[in-house]
Amino acid sequence: MIAGNLIDGRAIAEQIHQETAQRVARLAVRGIQPGLVFVRVGEDPASKVYVGMKEKTSTRLGISSRTHALPATTTEAELLGLIARLNVDPRVHGILVQAPVPRHIAEARIYSAVAPEKDVDGFHPQNVGKLMLGDPTGFRPCTPAGIHELLIRSQVSIEGAEVVVLGRGNIVGKPMALILMQKSRHANATVTLCHSQTRHIDSHCLRADILIAALGSPEFVKASMVKPGAVVIDVGVNRVLDPAAKNGSRLVGDVDFLNVQPVAGKITPNPGGVGPMTIAILMQNTVRAAEMAVVGS
Ligand code: GUN
Repeated sequence: MIAGNLIDGRAIAEQIHQETAQRVARLAVRGIQPGLVFVRVGEDPASKVYVGMKEKTSTRLGISSRTHALPATTTEAELLGLIARLNVDPRVHGILVQAPVPRHIAEARIYSAVAPEKDVDGFHPQNVGKLMLGDPTGFRPCTPAGIHELLIRSQVSIEGAEVVVLGRGNIVGKPMALILMQKSRHANATVTLCHSQTRHIDSHCLRADILIAALGSPEFVKASMVKPGAVVIDVGVNRVLDPAAKNGSRLVGDVDFLNVQPVAGKITPNPGGVGPMTIAILMQNTVRAAEMAVVGS
C-alpha cells in the first residue's frame, strides 16, 4: 500500500485540542484559567523551537503560559529555587522543564523537585511509579501517551499484539513499553523493548505488529525489518548533514520512511505524526492539572 496508510498526527491532535478547548471553557465559567510555565536552561536551538510551539498552542487553547529562559550558567540551586516558587504559585497548574538541561544540573533532581500534581511531563518518580503500577491518577509522559492515543484513534488493535519498542529512554521508550503492557483496555500487548545491546534486532522487529522507533538513530528502521502490514510509529528527530540543504542539514526520523511506507499497514509521517500528539497531551495534562486543583481546593 502506498497511499492512504498515513496516520495523520496533526488531524488527531486537532481533535484532542477541540476537546481540551471545551474543558478550558468549562473552567472559565468557574473563573479559572489553566496556567502552564515552561523553564528552559541554555541555548539548545531545538528546545527553543519546541517550547515556542508549545507556548503558541497554549495561547490558542486559552491556557495562560509563560517561559523562564535561563542562562546556561544557571546553578542547580537557582533552578530548584525557581521550581519551589512555581510549586506554591496557585496560578500555575503545570510546570515543564524542557530537557536537556546543561550537564552541571542533575536532571533527576530537577524532575523530582516539581510538585507531582503540577508535573504535566509525567517525569516525577511518583508519576513514573503510578504508571508502572497502572494507577490512572498520575500524569503520563506526553510523547508515549500521545502515541497511545494515536494508536487508539487510528483503530489499531493493541490487545494481544506483538509490540516492539526501539529505545529505552526515560522520556519515550521505557514509559511506552509500560503503557502498552498494562492489564487494561487498549493495552494488554506483548511488549519487547530493544536497545543498543540487543542481539539480532532485525528479527525482533520483524515479529512486530506495532513497531515504535524511539532510539535516535537516523533512518535506522529499514523495509527489510518490517513485517508486511505492521503499524510503524516514528518518534525520531535527527539532524543529519546534507550539503544540498539550505542550511547544510535536514531532519530525518528513525525510520527509512520512503522504503518502509509501502510495506507498512499504517505509518506516521515525520514531521506530522508523533510531534503534534506530544503537544496535544501536554495541553490535556495541563487542563487536567487545573481541574484537579479546583476539586482539591
Ligand atoms: N525534551 C524532549 N522531549 C521532551 C518532553 O516531552 N518534555 C520535556 N520537558 N523535555 C523534552
